[in-house]
Amino acid sequence: MWAEFAHQAEFPPGGDEVIGACYRAVERMGKRNKGFARRLELVAGDRDMPTKHLVNLFFRAVQYMRFFEREEVDYPERFFDSREWEKELRLMMNGKMGESFFGILSQRDTGTTVYQRYAGPKAVLSALWPNRKLTLTDLGCGGNHGLPGLIAGERFKPVVDHTPETAVTKWIEKPIGFRLGLGVDKYDPYDPEMINWRIACSFYPSELAEMNEFLEFEKRVRKKGKEMFVLGDIMSLMSDGLTVRKYDAVILSTVLYQMSETERAAVLDGAVGLLKTDGVEIAQDFARKGEEGKSLVFEMSRPGFIFSL
Ligand SMILES: C[S@@+](CC[C@H](N)C(=O)[O-])C[C@H]1O[C@@H](n2cnc3c(N)ncnc32)[C@H](O)[C@@H]1O
Repeated sequence: MWAEFAHQAEFPPGGDEVIGACYRAVERMGKRNKGFARRLELVAGDRDMPTKHLVNLFFRAVQYMRFFEREEVDYPERFFDSREWEKELRLMMNGKMGESFFGILSQRDTGTTVYQRYAGPKAVLSALWPNRKLTLTDLGCGGNHGLPGLIAGERFKPVVDHTPETAVTKWIEKPIGFRLGLGVDKYDPYDPEMINWRIACSFYPSELAEMNEFLEFEKRVRKKGKEMFVLGDIMSLMSDGLTVRKYDAVILSTVLYQMSETERAAVLDGAVGLLKTDGVEIAQDFARKGEEGKSLVFEMSRPGFIFSL
C-alpha cells in the first residue's frame, strides 16, 4: 500500500498535482505517525480490495470530508504543498472526523461516475447493431448516467480518434435504438448520501469547475434512470434477478478494477449467461485519456482488431 501511495504521489491520477501533494503527505505521515500508519494498515488488511482501489478511495474519502464535513468545496493554492496537506490530514484523522473518515474507508467503494466513459461502449454498439433495438445492462453503473444518457441522446465530448477514417467518432455520433437499458449497482444512486459520495468521487481537484455541468446532467437523466435501475450485488443478481440470455450487451465500465481476481473472473464468466447468443460483453478498465489528460483516445493497437478501447 505504501508503495502505491509513493507511486501515485509521483504519478497522480489525471496528473493532478493536488492529489500528488496529498499522497506525498500520506507517505510521510505513514513513516512518522505510527498511530495513523497502524489505523490505515488495519483498514487495508480488513478490506479484500486491490491496493490501487484503496489508494484511489483514500483521496475520495478525503474529498468527501472536505466537501461535506468541513464544508470547503475548493482547493486554495496552498494544497499544492504536501506540508499543508499534513496539517489538513491530521485534523481530519482525529476524533469524530477520524471515525467518519476511517468508516468511509472501511465500507465504501469509489463511486466515480463519468458519462464520457460510455463513448467507447456506444461506438461498439453502433458499429455492431446500427439498426437493432437494444436490450442492455450496465453492471456497476454508479450514478446511472450511462444508459439513461445514451437513451436520452446526450452527446459526448470530442475524442482523439486515430482509427481509419475516424470510424470511432462516426459510430459515437450515430444514434442507436433501445428496447431497455438497465443499470445495476450495490448502492442506490438516488439516495442523497450516495449523491454526496458520488460528487466527492467524481472530480479531481483540477476538475471542480465541471461540477455544475455534472449536476445538470444528473438532473436531466434522473427520471429515466430511476425507472431503469436495480439495486444489488452483481454476483447475486446474475444468479437470481437478471434474466438470462436476454441482453444484447453487458457493459462493465470502470468496475472490474474494484474486484479481486476471483470475483472478476466470476463476473466476466457469469455475464455470458445474461447474453443472447450473439450478445457481447463490453469491459472497460480504464477509459484511456490523452497526454494532456483531457480527451479519450482511440487507436488501432492490435492487428486484426478494428479498433481498441
Ligand atoms: C467507479 S464506479 C463506475 C461507475 C460507472 N460505471 C462509470 O464508469 O462511470 C464503480 C461502481 O461499481 C459498483 N460496484 C462495484 N462492485 C460491485 C458489485 N459487486 N455489485 C454491484 N456494484 C458494484 C460500485 O458501487 C460503483 O458504483
